[in-house]
Amino acid sequence: MKNNIYIETYGCQMNVADTELVMGILNNKGYDITKDIKSANVILLNTCSIRENAEQRIYGRLGNLKKIKEHKSDTVIGILGCMAERVRKDLIEEKKMVDLVVGPDEYRRLPEFIDTALAGDKGIGVKLSRTETYDDIIPFREDGLSAWISVMRGCDKFCTFCVVPFTRGRERSRSLDSIVNEVKILSQRGFREVSLLGQNVNSYCDDKYDFADLLESSALVDPSVRIRFTTSHPQDLSDKLLYTIAEHKNLCSYIHLPVQSGSNRILELMNRTYTIEHYLNLIEKARKIIDSVTFSTDIIAGFPSETFEDHLMTLDVMQQVKYDGAYMFKYSAREGTKAYKMEDDVSEETKTKRLNEIIDLQQSISYNLNQQLIGKSEEVLVEGFSKKSDEFMAGRTDNNKVVIFPNDGIVKKGDYVKLNIDRATSATLFGKQAEIVLPYDIKTPELV
Ligand code: 5AD
Ligand code: SF4
Repeated sequence: MKNNIYIETYGCQMNVADTELVMGILNNKGYDITKDIKSANVILLNTCSIRENAEQRIYGRLGNLKKIKEHKSDTVIGILGCMAERVRKDLIEEKKMVDLVVGPDEYRRLPEFIDTALAGDKGIGVKLSRTETYDDIIPFREDGLSAWISVMRGCDKFCTFCVVPFTRGRERSRSLDSIVNEVKILSQRGFREVSLLGQNVNSYCDDKYDFADLLESSALVDPSVRIRFTTSHPQDLSDKLLYTIAEHKNLCSYIHLPVQSGSNRILELMNRTYTIEHYLNLIEKARKIIDSVTFSTDIIAGFPSETFEDHLMTLDVMQQVKYDGAYMFKYSAREGTKAYKMEDDVSEETKTKRLNEIIDLQQSISYNLNQQLIGKSEEVLVEGFSKKSDEFMAGRTDNNKVVIFPNDGIVKKGDYVKLNIDRATSATLFGKQAEIVLPYDIKTPELV
């Protein structure tokens, strides 16, 4: 029987990119990938450990999958990703829920582990590596407009709340040449947006080149391909990087810059290695250097010992920066991290209340920022029909905002169009088409 592999992905974009990598590895070895779980004899979950509720979801899903195994006992069920590192013992020995556990640095050997599991043994590969970057592996991607490229793996920052350094290991970067080559292949295949990914992209380092060099080289591949990147750490965002973004039109003027908290005392307990003053200076500098740059952030509510005053400082930073968007979380204690040893002393009720205040404030900031765009003109990359109706199209601005506009039957997915914004909510802009700036199928002469 031919092996049919089904993969479900949870968590961050790194995992989405890793799933494509895993599919590339399996494809090379002749395994078939299926989108239909019923026809699969190997079911893999690429998992996330970042917060308690992410892991709970996977445990729930494994409970469902058990039923499939009751009907088809030779089905192999496997865990990839961060949970493979964190809870392998629990999954394999104690709860006996899975046959296969393979961590983020052992995917090269996944075919071997799958064969072991199919033969009735447990396939276990959880070693972390200081060198594995999968530089030579071309991920399996379906055709589309947007692609993710992971440019580095791991993290050396050791923020005290975070499991990533433990589940993904030390930082290591791919070579600039292989990444630029991947951007070229994507451009030739018709992709129009590439996001360069890493837990901390500003630490990217390929002996000779830094992240600014990588961004510049990627931008030069094809001016009609937008380049995005995430995530930046406020300690390492260099002036050179800001000037590089300012210089190239297709480097998006949008920086995801997690602040986590507005209180210097909490930032120190989190080991974030910057002060709020440094952070705000950086924002001011970026605004001076990059025309109409915008920011998004990550915020944690209710870190150990957080007082009401600390919380107010977080709200204050949000007011000062006026983020375009934010990912907002309640603190969740993770075993093995430094913060796990601190008393998780902010009550669940207070965490919820503070988180809701943060979410409400962000929503009103987003609403006000979007209102200011009414009457302005924005260039968008058309992503297709709007979710609600084929009578409308949806596109995305350089600053990552979704704009909905009427479908005239001419504009199509992949075009760049200019829109006049005439209405806005906190999440979406609405506009009327002004002109097609760059159609999808006709490239400019210098690109040919
Ligand atoms: N609890 C809550 N949020 C967390 N994050 C990371 N670890 C935790 C945790 N233990 C958030 C941070 C990080 C984002 C990816 O997830 O804000 O930037
Ligand atoms: Fe986790 Fe901090 Fe590294 Fe981000 S920078 S992955 S929050 S340790």
